[in-house]
Amino acid sequence: MTKLPKDFLWGGALAANQFEGGYDQDGKGLSVIDVMTSGAHGKAREITQDIDPQKYYPNHIGIDFYNRYKEDIALFNEMGLKCLRTSIAWSRIFPNGDEIEPNEAGLQFYDHVFDELIKYGIEPVITLSHFEMPLHLAREYGGFRNRKVADFFAHFAETVFKRYKDKVKYWMTFNEINNQMDTDNPIFLWTNSGVSIDENENSEEVLYQVAHNELIASAKAVKIGKEINPNFEIGLMISHVAIYPYSCNPEDMMEFVKANRLRFFFPDVQVRGYYPGYANKMFEQKGYHIGWQEGDEKILKEGTVDYIGFSYYMSTVVKHDVESYKGENVTNGGLNHSVDNPFIQQSDWGWAIDPTGLRYTLNTLYDRYQIPLFIVENGFGAVDEFNEHGEINDTYRIDYLKAHIDAAIKAADEDGVDLMGYTPWGIIDIISFTTGEMKKRYGLIYVDRDNNGHGTLERKKKASFDWYRNVIETNGESLNSY
Ligand code: BG6
Repeated sequence: MTKLPKDFLWGGALAANQFEGGYDQDGKGLSVIDVMTSGAHGKAREITQDIDPQKYYPNHIGIDFYNRYKEDIALFNEMGLKCLRTSIAWSRIFPNGDEIEPNEAGLQFYDHVFDELIKYGIEPVITLSHFEMPLHLAREYGGFRNRKVADFFAHFAETVFKRYKDKVKYWMTFNEINNQMDTDNPIFLWTNSGVSIDENENSEEVLYQVAHNELIASAKAVKIGKEINPNFEIGLMISHVAIYPYSCNPEDMMEFVKANRLRFFFPDVQVRGYYPGYANKMFEQKGYHIGWQEGDEKILKEGTVDYIGFSYYMSTVVKHDVESYKGENVTNGGLNHSVDNPFIQQSDWGWAIDPTGLRYTLNTLYDRYQIPLFIVENGFGAVDEFNEHGEINDTYRIDYLKAHIDAAIKAADEDGVDLMGYTPWGIIDIISFTTGEMKKRYGLIYVDRDNNGHGTLERKKKASFDWYRNVIETNGESLNSY
């Protein structure tokens, strides 16, 4: 018997900036990611002032979906996808971000993409902002430090909601809105919000001012969207790194409570429509001035979301008496006081592989919020190599996905979590967000391109392609078909 609902949204996930390329085609403006160079294994990406011709910017070409979308969507159809999560590049629609009139060529591109998806019965699931803010808004307005940017975002949202109201039903406002809580790593505030922190600033206070403007922008977009089409389903999107307390020491438990509040501050507001008591208390204690305007309470209340989209890749552990653990290549989910988990293996990029952590996450989110959940990112970034038959037999990726899907099914079937769908990240190889590498591959479809931009861009199915097609065909019943 099928354990998941018949209309379960099996799909794949991507983001415009990481796969479209065409960074200056048909009137597109520069976005914040267009000035980010490629990093390397364990080496951070640089954010340059403008485009430096001496440097390599991998997102400019991505995997050239902009010019190959028909071929790629045909492959997604062959894989059996029921939905495709991607984003609309904001700077394709409003090249500078502050225009009144949109760029018609940019709007047409997404008409073509959505029509092509719909032709095959693939439901588009669209993120409004996935690290693609127009660069002009960051440079001239200070990004989401500036309240005006919330209005520009609302105008962008309204424009695309109106244009695609009969083509797209599922939306999300900001991708991984909560990952910018990690102010130690400048790329998160930059890509999410177009914000850089000056040396003498209190980064935490800036973060909460930015967060407020972005929460207002998200709530406004939800309200506008519902007015345009009441059948829209509009969600939030957070990054969820599951947290364990290191021990039953009460101090570790309190560290765990504090860490979870960092994780949940954004969704607490976006789901409930008001600020949580712990945040208000903290602002008061620290003397932070968050820049509320008259009417903001109402905006937040009227703009609550329908569902929670989230990414899940890994878990972490917090221990009260250690300072920040920052080993080379280690990702700690943006939390100080993180330590390694001796029970869990890590990927080559230091990401802890923890499928049970996904079941734990689904239960935690559902217990806390009681609204539908959507796993909109999960996957295994790895180096792929061709075998002697010219194939990529990515059993490590299949193992990862299988274990996570199994955990998700258990959460839905045995624990009663309301789960809408599952879209593995980077369904086709794309540029890595954190490192800018091509070598860190998530795809079930290989793309011939390397870290330096060499390669034919030819597509080739990996072993995981057929495996996943079978998973979808059997609605998750058959996970062991390889
Ligand atoms: C999430 C982002 O942080 O994780 C994606 O929403 C990103 O944009 C994904 O690509 C995986 O991260 P990375 O750095 O391995 O590409």
